[in-house]
Amino acid sequence: MIERHVPPLMNVIHSQIESASCPESIKEAMLYSLNAGGKRIRPLLLIMAAQSYKPVTNSAYKLGAALEMIHTYSLIHDDLPSMDNDDYRRGKPTNHRVYGEALAILAGDALLTESFQLVSDISEDDMHPRDIVHITRRMSESAGIRGMVGGQVADIEGEDRALRLEELEWIHRHKTGALLEFAVEAGGILGGAPEGDIAALKIYAENLGLAFQIKDDILDVEGDAEIIGKPVGSDTDNQKSTYPSLLTLSEAKNKLDAHIQTAADALRTVSCDSSALLSILQYVAKRDR
Ligand code: IPE
Ligand code: IPE
Ligand code: MG
Ligand code: MG
Ligand code: MG
Repeated sequence: MIERHVPPLMNVIHSQIESASCPESIKEAMLYSLNAGGKRIRPLLLIMAAQSYKPVTNSAYKLGAALEMIHTYSLIHDDLPSMDNDDYRRGKPTNHRVYGEALAILAGDALLTESFQLVSDISEDDMHPRDIVHITRRMSESAGIRGMVGGQVADIEGEDRALRLEELEWIHRHKTGALLEFAVEAGGILGGAPEGDIAALKIYAENLGLAFQIKDDILDVEGDAEIIGKPVGSDTDNQKSTYPSLLTLSEAKNKLDAHIQTAADALRTVSCDSSALLSILQYVAKRDR
């Protein structure tokens, strides 16, 4: 059961934040968004990629916690009035609606910073120091201007005009794909995946990442706000280009299926038991939240 990894993951997150000596308000704001729920797909992908090769270690939870903290920070900032201006997230009022903009911005800043501290705590018994440095670099690339932040900037700057499909794919690969790709890559490195599997895992992750954001765009059109825990119609309100808006809903669904298929084909070539990674992929294709 993949879900059994969530409690130990949350324990790492809680002890990391609660052990800090700082104003209680910022800890509360950080934990509010982390505890609100969410699918935890990035840490679960990382842990499943690692455990396809080796039994799970506490370092897998630390890396997974780091990733969930970066992702949660990106959501808190994404919802701000100056960005997507959304009032609900993970079934609750957004962070700035509860704590105000200043604390929401700082909670995001703090989550990002703490994530790097968690990576620096990875045990050398689980990962060679050279690999810890490599992972740190890849995490900063995936989260920053070369990855998620770069994609978010292009997403905001692309509002109010119809993007070309290649531009939209670039945005999806960066704002969403980069962290999902990092999750699989980091899991593969932690598990000691053989060289031959790394390329296939990369194809799996790239296609899963695109499928994930296409599905997010589809759910913004035809999802149920109660189930997804965030408003529908946000993309239309913000005049965003999305796969459904550029291609039609049914073409967007065909694109989604094609990426799922390519990812599944790539998984068939790896040397490990890839059933857990396949079940996450199937979940991405079918998810309603
Ligand atoms: C939402 O991510 C933002 C995107 C990158 C599409 P998730 O759909 O993973 O959100 P949570 O973590 O489950 O709330
Ligand atoms: C955001 O994409 C991706 C992030 C990096 C947070 P969206 O703006 O489509 O995500 P949602 O729909 O608000 O979750
Ligand atoms: Mg956005
Ligand atoms: Mg948004
Ligand atoms: Mg969206």
